[in-house]
Amino acid sequence: MMIDPDMLSDPIDRAADILSKARSVVALTGAGISVESGIPPFRGKGGLWEKMDPMEVAHIDAFMQDPERVWNLLIKDMKTVLDKARPNPAHTGLVELERLGKLATVITQNVDGLHQLAGSGDVIEFHGNFAWQRCMECGRLRRTAEVDLTRIPPQCDCGGILRPDCVFFGEMIPTEAMVRSQQVSAGCDVMLVIGTSATVQPAASMPFIARDNGARVIEINPEPSPLTGRISNLPLLGDAGRIIPQLVEAVKERLDSP
Ligand code: APR
Repeated sequence: MMIDPDMLSDPIDRAADILSKARSVVALTGAGISVESGIPPFRGKGGLWEKMDPMEVAHIDAFMQDPERVWNLLIKDMKTVLDKARPNPAHTGLVELERLGKLATVITQNVDGLHQLAGSGDVIEFHGNFAWQRCMECGRLRRTAEVDLTRIPPQCDCGGILRPDCVFFGEMIPTEAMVRSQQVSAGCDVMLVIGTSATVQPAASMPFIARDNGARVIEINPEPSPLTGRISNLPLLGDAGRIIPQLVEAVKERLDSP
């Protein structure tokens, strides 16, 4: 039975109908997908940047000027929060979509590693990963979990200062992450945009690249974003931890029915 997607009243039904017919799906995720894992977002309700100025604590110039201050004001607390965080039903729902053949790649702005922990197979870490610390002198990487934080800022055996292997404001996106994100965004026919305020470039340009190459953009967010109604014509308003499992079930129904 052919259903005109626009005739389906429930947006989740409409999104499931589009996803079940999709050839290549890509997800762009932001801090919102990890809120239900206990990690606060940066903007909006309870946002980190409501409490401190990112230019003071998350810009490379601020770190270079006073690494001890940035470690004390931001990085130590991030480690405490991320150490406790585990994937939530939104992360595991994306793994299920991948298993159904309806999600190829996750482009994540998050540095919490929860997509990989949940089992996602292809994750592009657009802003790096907090699981690793890099020496500012010799460049060696070491696991954040193994870094001795009794001394701030922590140091490498060579005496260099350690910094998270993440992208600070004022830094370039790792080339491979940038190129691959542009490629998969241009090649997908559906992009799921989940839990992002879509305000930080160049990550926020990926939905535009997808749309300009003919993709449908489906947003999952309790709030509208600058994309809503412009780039994404199918907003699923709500928490990702509730919406994504519902979406997965609706896609499964369509894939199971002849
Ligand atoms: N489910 C889905 N979305 C949610 C949820 C939830 N449970 N809770 C909040 N959100 C939404 C908010 O409405 C908001 O639109 O998640 C978004 C979080 O926005 P930001 O905090 O700005 O996070 P993000 O878009 O990832 O920020 C981009 O900015 O500070 C830099 O490097 C940092 O990667 C980050 C980048």
